[in-house]
Amino acid sequence: MKKIVLAYSGGLDTSCAIKWLKDRNYDVIAFIADVGQKDDYQTIKKRAMNTGASKVYVVNMQKEFLTDYVFPTIKANAIYENKYLLATALSRPLIAKHQVAIAHKENAKTVAHGCTGKGNDQVRFETTVTLLDPKLEQIAPVREWEFKTREQEIDYARENKIPIDVTKKRPYSIDKNLYGRAIECGVLEDPWQEPPEEIYQMTKSPQNAPDKPTYIEIDFVQGIPAKINKKAHTPIAIIDKLNEIAGKNGVGRVDMVENRLVGIKSREIYENPAGTTIFIAHQALEDLVLDRETAHFKQAFSRKYAELTYYGLWETPLKKQLDAYFDKIQERVSGTVRLKVYKGNCVVVGRKSKYSRYKEELATYGYKDVFDQKLAEGFIRLWGLPFTK
Ligand code: ARG
Repeated sequence: MKKIVLAYSGGLDTSCAIKWLKDRNYDVIAFIADVGQKDDYQTIKKRAMNTGASKVYVVNMQKEFLTDYVFPTIKANAIYENKYLLATALSRPLIAKHQVAIAHKENAKTVAHGCTGKGNDQVRFETTVTLLDPKLEQIAPVREWEFKTREQEIDYARENKIPIDVTKKRPYSIDKNLYGRAIECGVLEDPWQEPPEEIYQMTKSPQNAPDKPTYIEIDFVQGIPAKINKKAHTPIAIIDKLNEIAGKNGVGRVDMVENRLVGIKSREIYENPAGTTIFIAHQALEDLVLDRETAHFKQAFSRKYAELTYYGLWETPLKKQLDAYFDKIQERVSGTVRLKVYKGNCVVVGRKSKYSRYKEELATYGYKDVFDQKLAEGFIRLWGLPFTK
């Protein structure tokens, strides 16, 4: 039997995939990636074994997810189509990297994932695997198998005694990790329909959020959040705490129609309380410390970085070169930002840094003013000179 390493979530698709691959004579090694989705990994592990996996790996990659995947996008201010913080997109190259490592360790020549043929995630998994080890063969059972509908798939699971949880009707497709949640399908497929409140888990409705604002202070060290309210925390604790505070205040909901890589427009809802807060704070700090040319020039690269991430091109030379570029800029991005979160809003109310380029004596209209207004006259004449008829 040929060994295959399957990225396994415990859901219907990947559970059916174990059986489907076994029937095609594969020895299935299931691999559960813990990116902070807070599932019951022991139950899922048992499910994989009972469905026919010969071995199950559970790998906790939460810290690596934050430090090596999420934080670089914060340094880059990378947001896809100005709204999506890329929580799902970032987890894929990480999971694929570990999948390749397990394949090498197990001497397996084939890997598999449970993504559909309509989404971005198949592209991200397979492109990453190809870039890391082009010799590995890849299989996407969901793209190949005969089921036309989810009902047929459930029947297959029942017939084959695959232990899955299909008693409750789950109309949504949800992806979640430490950094955020993505929800699609069901009523959300009509972009005119307001999302029902029941889909949200990380954020409270702004209407039901506390009537008093909450203030948060975030300290950044070279572009990375290091302290909350003057207390240092690990990356995981920073994200957990901000998810809690911002989520309670209804911050971090996004409802968007996005352009998928495979040409489809899709409607997706995101929850990203910590990320939203950190992005707003980080941008405010950059506003204070970066010179104008750097700040403006960076924006085009931010967009590129978001696209590379969304498009599954994480392991490419350009993405690595951009990391070096953003790291250089972040050398100055240390300081403190004070935010006010209130009923779905996150507003910057203060910022300070030892690298601040803000000079009060130049900006002020008060008695401290040292700006020589007479210099402006000559400057303006030369400024318009190239265009003067
Ligand atoms: N549209 C997002 C992306 O491509 C999320 C995909 C997963 N979403 C979901 N609801 N299962 O990154």
